Parts: sequence; C-alpha cells; structure tokens
Amino acid sequence: MKVFINKRIPEIGIKMLKDAGLEVTISENPELTQEEWLKYCKDADVILNVGQNKYDKDFFEEFPNIKAIALYSVGFDHVDIDEANQRKIPVGNTPEVLSRATSDVAFLLMQSVARRASYYFQKVKNGDWGEFDPLHELGQELYGKTLGVFGLGRIGFEMAEKCKKAFDMNIIYHNRSHNEEAEKELGAKYVSFEELVSESDVLSIHANFSEEHSEIFNESAFKKMKSNAIFINTARGGFHHQKDLYNALVSEKIWGAGLDVTNPEPIEENDPILKLSNVCVLPHIGSATIEARNGMAKVAAENIIAFYKGEKMPNCANP
Ligand code: DGY
Repeated sequence: MKVFINKRIPEIGIKMLKDAGLEVTISENPELTQEEWLKYCKDADVILNVGQNKYDKDFFEEFPNIKAIALYSVGFDHVDIDEANQRKIPVGNTPEVLSRATSDVAFLLMQSVARRASYYFQKVKNGDWGEFDPLHELGQELYGKTLGVFGLGRIGFEMAEKCKKAFDMNIIYHNRSHNEEAEKELGAKYVSFEELVSESDVLSIHANFSEEHSEIFNESAFKKMKSNAIFINTARGGFHHQKDLYNALVSEKIWGAGLDVTNPEPIEENDPILKLSNVCVLPHIGSATIEARNGMAKVAAENIIAFYKGEKMPNCANP
C-alpha cells in the first residue's frame, strides 16, 4: 500500500509506516505545485495530510484511488466527512496528543494579553524601556475571575484545569452536551451561549469548527461581553469575525484578544488588528512542541497501520 505524505513529519511516524511494510513517498517541496499534487495523489492509496488542504466531493471524485486519509491534525473541518462516509473512506485525526500543547498556548495568550506583554515587548524592542509609571498601561490579574470555555472537550478541559489550578478561576462553559468530568472535577457550570458571552472575564474557544458556528463571535457577541473581557481563539479563525473583533478592540469594548488563529489565515499583512496594543497574535502554533508533533506523527502512523491491517483507525473523525 502506498502512502503519500505532503510535508515531512517527525521521523518516528515515517519509521513506523516503513517498518509496517508500507511504501512511503514524502514531498520534499512544502509548497507543492498543483501538478505535483495531482501526480502524488494519483499514485497513492492513502494520504497523510499536513495542513488545511480541502478534501471534498471534487477531490474524492478525481482520485477514486484514495482509500483513506490520515490527518496530521485534530481538526477535520477541511474534510467533507459526509462525502468520505458515503465512499467508506476513513479519515483519521490526532486528538489528545496535542491537547496539552494547545491549551498551553491558550493559557499563554491569556496571560500575555492580561499583562500587555506584546505591547511592552514591542516597546523594549523599539528602545523605549520607559520610566516606572504607576498608571501607564496596567494589566489585570486573573485570580478568582471567570473563564468561559466555548467547546469543552479535551483541549478545553486542559485549559480550564490550568486556569483553576493557577488562578482559582470559576469555570463556565457552553458545549453541545454536558461535560460531567469537568462539572465534577472543576466545578464547571454549563451555561447558555448568551450567558457565556456576558459573564466571562476570559472567553476561550476550544470547539471543533463547523459552518453552523461560522463567525458566531461577531459584533452582536462582542457587544455583550464585559469591558475587561479577554477573547482567546486557539481553535479556528472561522469562529470570529475579524473586523468586528477589531472594532471591539479598538473601541475598548473588550479588554484584549489573544489569537493563535485568524480569519483569514494567514492574517493579512496590513490587518489593522496587528497595530493594536491589546492584542497578541501567534501564527497557529498550538501544537508546535517536540512532544506534541512527535505524538501526532505516531498517532497518524497508527491510524494508517490499522487501516492497512483491515482494522478500524484508533482515532477516526468519521462517526
Ligand atoms: C489541529 O491539529 O487541528 C491544529 O489546529 C493544526 O491544524
């Protein structure tokens, strides 16, 4: 069975695939031309996909040779899962191994925005250390404040747990269903979307993205948020309306925002949000640790090997 990997991943995953007897082709050109992409896809049985390439009806029709897809990501919003189901194509993903790293980034952004770290770092880089000033650009402390989690799965749980342990924050959440573990262990309280938006001091998104939630954090949501609220998005940029977020930030309707994902992505170079002092933007690095990326390579390889053996993928996005 032939596996095509569109960008080099940590060696541990490649070795596992080769040791299992799979024929592995890796693109050494991270920016594949359309021609190269077509050639590789035509020649493969399975794709181990790195990045946000779209797998939709057109793709599956064009490449009937593709029998399985193993994503090098937990998110699968770039795959038409219904279409894959109809064609009995399993789509593997990589949950759990990146929950810690991604929630670490949410936690980092939260603190960075609360203490205006980007603003001060920029000042220092500009040679402007500044005098001690009792009133200038003060941060806020997070102790005992309320964390609102939109989507309380594995990553949301890790974020909530860190906030509870570090700052004894109250946890409220909005989810498709109740998370009993979080309610029991963290005292998390299920609330409506309206309550989440209006009661959170920090609002952090950790849901799987789907079109029904496209730009759900928009002018109407930002209007209801507290003036000290910090908005954190480490999930998908599509959850927020970038211009509405900018307006909320520039008019100080909310305190600040920490973004590891933007809408669109990558962020446009001249996006005015980048000029604001109450914002910290990172380039989608939630899972960018050695540990998480090795874990993702291992899980993606396990998914493919299971498929090769005729077994169910251990981590599968298909219902
Ligand atoms: C994920 O795993 O979904 C990350 O966001 C990388 O795409």
